[in-house]
Amino acid sequence: MPETPSPLPLTIAVDGPAAAGKGTLARRLAGALGLAHLDSGVLYRAVGLAVLRAGGDPGDAAAAADAARHFNLGSPDTGRLSDPALRTPEAGEAASRVAAFPAVRAALLDFQRRFARHPPAGRRGAAIDGRDIGTVVCPDAPVKIFVTAGLDERARRRFAELQAAGADVIYAAVLSELEARDGRDISRAVAPLKPAEDAAILDTSMLDAEAAFRAALDIVAQRAPGWRSLVQDVR
Ligand code: C5P
Repeated sequence: MPETPSPLPLTIAVDGPAAAGKGTLARRLAGALGLAHLDSGVLYRAVGLAVLRAGGDPGDAAAAADAARHFNLGSPDTGRLSDPALRTPEAGEAASRVAAFPAVRAALLDFQRRFARHPPAGRRGAAIDGRDIGTVVCPDAPVKIFVTAGLDERARRRFAELQAAGADVIYAAVLSELEARDGRDISRAVAPLKPAEDAAILDTSMLDAEAAFRAALDIVAQRAPGWRSLVQDVR
């Protein structure tokens, strides 16, 4: 008898360092499995950018907390979250500064949890990518994937991405920005970047996006048996 997809919403937590390919992977898994996708990094980027635009310092706890509290989280696909300015290295840097403050994380937590529990209509669950999805936001997610890749490879990918977008960038600067950002994300006291104990580790250093997607589908099939037949169909 063929298995049918689980009627329970499926949450897939995709965490990892910057430019490891987790966003691309989460988006592809969501598209293939009929899940909603949330890039949680964009929430922190929006808060960081709001502080910068107000002329504040993202390293100032009060300014960051204030921006996060006033950040009205309506629909995740509002125009504000697709502002191209959110994708700049400056926004990424500001994001990683505001993200270290507990008040900022607390202000964004409910929205992320609600998204996982009550994905937008018509979706069978959610694939959320970030740094603490498997450890803090959705610790009960049945599928947790920690996507990683070597620093040089990640810097190379981010450099190519920025160049393709027409940005005037220097490889060495991209590399040191990623290194600094990872350092802050790993060492912060609240919700640091680390794999959940029950996460599957997916090293994409030697994998292209297609191979990473196939490996992730295998992980979904292993961890969420009710979804196996759907994974088979996708393959
Ligand atoms: O994923 P992205 O590079 O857009 O994230 C920007 C920054 O936001 C990260 O460097 C990290 O500091 C922060 N972030 C976080 N927790 C998440 C997602 C992003 O702390 N779940």
